[in-house]
Amino acid sequence: MAEVTALTLNDGVQIPQLGFGVFQIPPDEVVKATRTAIDTGYRLIDTASAYDNEEGVGQAVAECGIPRDELFITTKVWNDDQGYDETLRAFDVSMAKLGLDYLDLYLIHWPRPRLDKYVATWRAFEKLQADGRIRSIGVSNFAPEHIDRLAAECTVVPSVNQVELHPGHPQHDLHAYHAAKGVVTQAWSPIGRNQGLLEHEKVTAIAGSHGKTPAQVVLRWHIQRGIVAIPKSVRPDRIRANIEVFDFELSASEVDVIGHIGTAQKVGPDPALFFDLS
Ligand SMILES: NC(=O)c1ccc[n+]([C@@H]2O[C@H](COP(=O)([O-])OP(=O)(O)OC[C@H]3O[C@@H](n4cnc5c(N)ncnc54)[C@H](OP(=O)(O)O)[C@@H]3O)[C@@H](O)[C@H]2O)c1
Repeated sequence: MAEVTALTLNDGVQIPQLGFGVFQIPPDEVVKATRTAIDTGYRLIDTASAYDNEEGVGQAVAECGIPRDELFITTKVWNDDQGYDETLRAFDVSMAKLGLDYLDLYLIHWPRPRLDKYVATWRAFEKLQADGRIRSIGVSNFAPEHIDRLAAECTVVPSVNQVELHPGHPQHDLHAYHAAKGVVTQAWSPIGRNQGLLEHEKVTAIAGSHGKTPAQVVLRWHIQRGIVAIPKSVRPDRIRANIEVFDFELSASEVDVIGHIGTAQKVGPDPALFFDLS
């Protein structure tokens, strides 16, 4: 299998461009799924305290036999744990569940600006990074104004913003903003949670011409746009297929067509609304 490409974050840390997401994988299934992913060649695992499966991810990491420094483990601080002291405590809880002594990437899961705690949360992230407990710190579901505020009031610019992004919701403006600020875009729901995107006629036509599946073509589209994609699956055949995207190339016009298929197909909550939930 061709090697997974990597990007260099603004702090010099290398991040694999394809990882394994474990949202909605129940605790009793996550060890097997994560082991399958690691055995298949995935090195980045994306979990969160809110997914209630950090223990299983940690078990898979402990049992997999891959040296720790070859893996890239991400988790996220949940909304209820925002604030400086709360975040420091939540980090310790996540690390105990994961069974790790350092983390590769810690993300603020949602900005929740009405709480007005994400700056304090970010200062805790900066301390944890300065203390050597996290290699890289980033955010998730942040709008440009939130990242700009961190850049203005804090020291470290986020290395990553993990947002919903797929051809049904391509986020061209946000991706351009990230590029201008040196922030890597990480795509959640990169294949649109399989809610119609993979049956789109333009996607299936391009897939057919490459002898690839629609999911592989969509994942390749992320790779060629300089995005990190973290597809989830519990099926070994799909886990394997989803990483086999480094042995073919889309043309520039195919990348353009996939990025403008014109279906508004957002699958997750709108950050602008989710901000207001408790
Ligand atoms: N930061 C955030 O707020 C946030 C929000 C959502 C997600 N995420 C992260 O992003 C990861 C991925 O997002 P996601 O799970 O929402 O969506 P996704 O990866 O786009 O899609 C997952 C869905 O597609 C199916 N699938 C996987 N591979 C397939 C293939 N090759 N062909 C057809 N169907 C396939 C899966 O079913 P099977 O499992 O049955 O194969 C599952 O139903 C999450 O696991 C999580 O780590 C982050």
